[in-house]
Amino acid sequence: MYGQEKGGSGERFKTGIGGLDTMLYGGIPVDNQVILAGGPGSGKTLMSFEICYNSAKAGIPAVFLALEEEPNTVIKNAKSAFPDFKDIDDLIAKKLLYIDGEGSSNKLQQESDSSKYIFGNMVADIEGILSDYNAKCLVIDSISLIKLMLGDELSYRRSMISLVSNLRRLNVTSFLTVEMPSAERKDLKFTPEFYIFDGIITMYQTGQEDKRTLAIEVVKMRGTNHSWVLSPYEIESNGFKVFTIEE
Ligand SMILES: Nc1ncnc2c1ncn2[C@@H]1O[C@H](COP(=O)(O)OP(=O)(O)OP(=O)(O)O)[C@@H](O)[C@H]1O
Ligand SMILES: [Mg+2]
Repeated sequence: MYGQEKGGSGERFKTGIGGLDTMLYGGIPVDNQVILAGGPGSGKTLMSFEICYNSAKAGIPAVFLALEEEPNTVIKNAKSAFPDFKDIDDLIAKKLLYIDGEGSSNKLQQESDSSKYIFGNMVADIEGILSDYNAKCLVIDSISLIKLMLGDELSYRRSMISLVSNLRRLNVTSFLTVEMPSAERKDLKFTPEFYIFDGIITMYQTGQEDKRTLAIEVVKMRGTNHSWVLSPYEIESNGFKVFTIEE
């Protein structure tokens, strides 16, 4: 069964991604705030889009805030990567899927003191959108700009703690993408968000000459047991496929 369901180990939000829910022993504990970290081109945007799409398809309204790309570009790229997702426009029309972010993105770039926006208005904007759509799934793609704008680690850490506690208050399962400086697992660095968020999922590219391999790992997920195995994944026309030994 798909969607939000109560199980022996607590209520779960299913990502709907084959293999990933298996790695999570049934899905993300509902209302967890999750970081999706990866190197350039590892598939952060497409995976977080698919999670929203799957949620919307299951009748759980989902909001995707694109802070670094035009929302229309996100939709265009998703349609190109996932030609089998033929009902994207239909789900948008039905208000089950909402893709935006230009407002937040412009404010982030214009605000002279962007930390004020992050602490105050951004959360208010998100709260407004979530309540308009009755959304239970939120993606922010990505928070790397916030990190750069805040500059020092203390301001960033404070604003992330504030963001996480506000999102928890809004009763939403969230996925926030973060760029990792390296696509390789051996270079993984534990930056502040690794401690603040409920869950960390990392996506790596291991390049071997002309063949690249993509692999995903659940580094932590509060409220559930999970796979510790680095599992390969592929992007197919009908969505991500994660190949896990748990299956
Ligand atoms: N039509 C497609 N079919 C298969 N793979 C695709 C397709 N379109 C994109 N991809 C793969 O997905 C990758 C881009 O995915 P995505 O934009 O989600 O990555 P990202 O991690 O968000 O990147 P960035 O760091 O630039 O934000 C491409 O590099 C490519 O490997
Ligand atoms: Mg991206």
